[in-house]
Amino acid sequence: MKQEKDKKFYVCSECGYKSTKWFGKCPQCGEWNTAIETEGALKSAPSAVEFEPSTSKILSVERLKTTMGEMDRVLGSGLTPGSVVLVAGGPGIGKSTLMLEYASALANDGNVYYISGEESITQVLSRVKRLGVEKENLLLSSTVDIDRVLSSIKSYPIALVFDSIQTVHSSGMNALTGSVSQMRECTVKIVEYAKTTGTSVFMIGHITKVGNIAGPMVLEHMVDTVLYLEGEPRSGRRILRAMKNRFGPTEEIAVYEMKKMGMIEIPDPSRIFADMESEEPGNAISVVVEGSRSLMINVQTLTTVNRRSSPIRIARGLENSRLLMLTALVSNYLDVHLDNHDVYLNVLGGLKVSDPGADLAVVAALYSSAKNMRFPSKTAFIGEVGLDGKVRPVQQMKMRVAEAKRMGIKNVISSHYPKEKDVTGVRTVREAIKRALSGDE
Ligand SMILES: Nc1ncnc2c1ncn2[C@@H]1O[C@H](COP(=O)(O)OP(=O)(O)OP(=O)(O)O)[C@@H](O)[C@H]1O
Ligand SMILES: [Mg+2]
Repeated sequence: MKQEKDKKFYVCSECGYKSTKWFGKCPQCGEWNTAIETEGALKSAPSAVEFEPSTSKILSVERLKTTMGEMDRVLGSGLTPGSVVLVAGGPGIGKSTLMLEYASALANDGNVYYISGEESITQVLSRVKRLGVEKENLLLSSTVDIDRVLSSIKSYPIALVFDSIQTVHSSGMNALTGSVSQMRECTVKIVEYAKTTGTSVFMIGHITKVGNIAGPMVLEHMVDTVLYLEGEPRSGRRILRAMKNRFGPTEEIAVYEMKKMGMIEIPDPSRIFADMESEEPGNAISVVVEGSRSLMINVQTLTTVNRRSSPIRIARGLENSRLLMLTALVSNYLDVHLDNHDVYLNVLGGLKVSDPGADLAVVAALYSSAKNMRFPSKTAFIGEVGLDGKVRPVQQMKMRVAEAKRMGIKNVISSHYPKEKDVTGVRTVREAIKRALSGDE
């Protein structure tokens, strides 16, 4: 007798009706000639899924805080157990240094495994010594086989660090180490491991300036959090940014100074991003909000006449399109003609600003450079600027004004609404320049 599983069945391609007998017209949906022959048993129903009521009182998991407060903040007030974090950055920027320090800080609370496929154990050990992060609970390996690593770890450690995801491979996968399919396969295993054990896993990923998309950033949607370490390789300043975070706000940043003994946290970055002494023409100060923190910044511009070729506009730390728009706006509303001027803009300290609250400072800096005049010292400009030349309110004004005051700013020029104490409210960019030049009022 034929086994149940070997029997032939006919399935309606329209509505899914199943029958052991062929049918010309589907008795369920009435469509003609939709019967498709399939082999095998009508599958028994898969085991039922258990649903959790949304009122369920599952214990909330405590986030793990370390001695590295800035890192904790970027992760969203500490590390969420079972989370998978991708730490991406350019070559030599300091990914291994930062993660080794953080792994050591986490090791105060339990076992942390650091798996380095990039370097030999001796090399990792020499970095551990240089950074002074030796710990009993910090365990090192240079095995690159993900299956071997995951099956060797028996107890549930606090965290694993893979340095880097490009160097690990799964032997069951017939693809080159570092290829996208190999990285995906390993990440699937890592995510499953993290979710079932509650161990957090960090994956370091190299990205190149041009190959961002083809690199580990394709894993972005698979992980919980993506941290991005950036900075000018020649300067010691490094900025760690949360680009995606399922457990906390994005746009949170931490600032570090990379020294021989490791990454030094800079808990008060306004002091390095804003140069209060810089009062030459072309400078303007603003306060931007990055995540939960306000930062004072210095926008510098330089405008020079160019009658030979079409004018150049280059922005560092601000989107070029924003500079183009604000340059056109200055020409239109402020009686300054920049059509035949090259325009350069730099946000001091290597910060990348996306907050529209910096618009007014860009306008002020352009005006100051073009007119070769300086604003009274201790003036800050905060506000988004519309194409109509109006100054628009921005979020979190209280926090921005407080930061400006803390840093010694006397005159904050901003939108007239919302009304804030200690703020000179203006409606248009023209009024903003006028009020700034006339000093505090
Ligand atoms: N002995 C040392 N003294 C001071 N600084 C050092 C020393 N060794 C390395 N560095 C600094 O550390 C940087 C490399 O840091 P790290 O290895 O953490 O970066 P990475 O992002 O992991 O690099 P890679 O992309 O090669 O993995 C170097 O560019 C250098 O500035
Ligand atoms: Mg490295």
